[in-house]
Amino acid sequence: MVHYIRFLRTPQTATGKKTVDIAAVVAVTTDLGDAYYAQNIDLVVEVVEANRPHGILHTQVVTWQASSRALKFTANCPGKYTSRSARLHVTTRATQSASGIMAVPVILDVWSDIFTLSDKQRTEPIVERQLVLPNKSRIRMWEETGDSIARHVWDAGLGFLMYFSQALSSSPAEGMSRLASLMRSSKVRRLKVLELGAGCGIAGMAFAQLAKCDMLLTDLEDAQEILGNNIRCASPLAGSTLRSEVLDWSTGVDDSCNANYDLVLVSDCIYNPDSSLHLVETLRQLATRTPGVLILVGFKRRHEADTIFFDRMQQTDFAIVEQVNIPLPHTFTDHDADIPTSEFYTYQLQSALSPRT
Ligand SMILES: C[S@@+](CC[C@H](N)C(=O)[O-])C[C@H]1O[C@@H](n2cnc3c(N)ncnc32)[C@H](O)[C@@H]1O
Repeated sequence: MVHYIRFLRTPQTATGKKTVDIAAVVAVTTDLGDAYYAQNIDLVVEVVEANRPHGILHTQVVTWQASSRALKFTANCPGKYTSRSARLHVTTRATQSASGIMAVPVILDVWSDIFTLSDKQRTEPIVERQLVLPNKSRIRMWEETGDSIARHVWDAGLGFLMYFSQALSSSPAEGMSRLASLMRSSKVRRLKVLELGAGCGIAGMAFAQLAKCDMLLTDLEDAQEILGNNIRCASPLAGSTLRSEVLDWSTGVDDSCNANYDLVLVSDCIYNPDSSLHLVETLRQLATRTPGVLILVGFKRRHEADTIFFDRMQQTDFAIVEQVNIPLPHTFTDHDADIPTSEFYTYQLQSALSPRT
């Protein structure tokens, strides 16, 4: 399992005699929050000057105990830094050594929002994740600390980063050749791409940072604020554009929508049987307007109900043209011996595949 360091309580400051003390509570848990990291591990807590990611003002190591559910700590930053703007970064040594090279680490580190090193400051309940893509561009993804489905990063989104990186490599794995050649073609022609149920937008943003495209990230109304924030932090490739819009699958695609999409991305969106049926109908409407469109569906298998999506896709005349599983980063323990995978299915309309008569 990939684990995420999460703030259960975001940093709060208090001034001591010679220090500014920053208290926080973290957990090392899964995307669903249904399991906790099952080994002891040292967490590196850094007080970093805001807007200077390498300006580390103070470092402290605290230990996460196997199978605990929360870790409360106080970082004692020297008082000489009082009044500076700072962020709290909580990471592991392994994650630190993976940063700077393309890697999804086994444990994702977390960056707090900015706060002032003075008395009684509390940060907002939002945090940032940072990951590096193969072209060295950085994915900066804000998410909420609460339990919202739309407003945090899910494992399949990380799987998409790994998929895109492999598709761009000199020898893409079997099962991703369609996307690999589409990504290569973006060097000569800007692609039109749509993401459905984008959440924080990790998959679509990574694509726009790796391939030249006009990317439209869509989700329900309650994801629009975080999507907008993340678009402002993104570093799209020169020639790429990024924007967001509400698209509710239960309403479907507007009649006026006549965009000729090359690609539709769907990351971790097939867990709910009712909305799955609306999602398939939305995909059908899009593919009817643009019969050649590729649809890339990635997800982590969690529920039996996931099959409803696949059955309905088949009934709706969609054909799977390629399939590949990508193993997610994992720490083997006695409790956790199965390698988690993200599964990827590339679909096209059957009619778009039939030879013309
Ligand atoms: C598990 S999250 C995945 C988010 C993101 N794609 C990722 O991989 O991190 C599922 C997403 O589907 C969106 N969603 C659910 N029902 C929807 C609907 N009827 N129309 C549009 N989006 C919907 C949710 O708001 C949420 O952002």
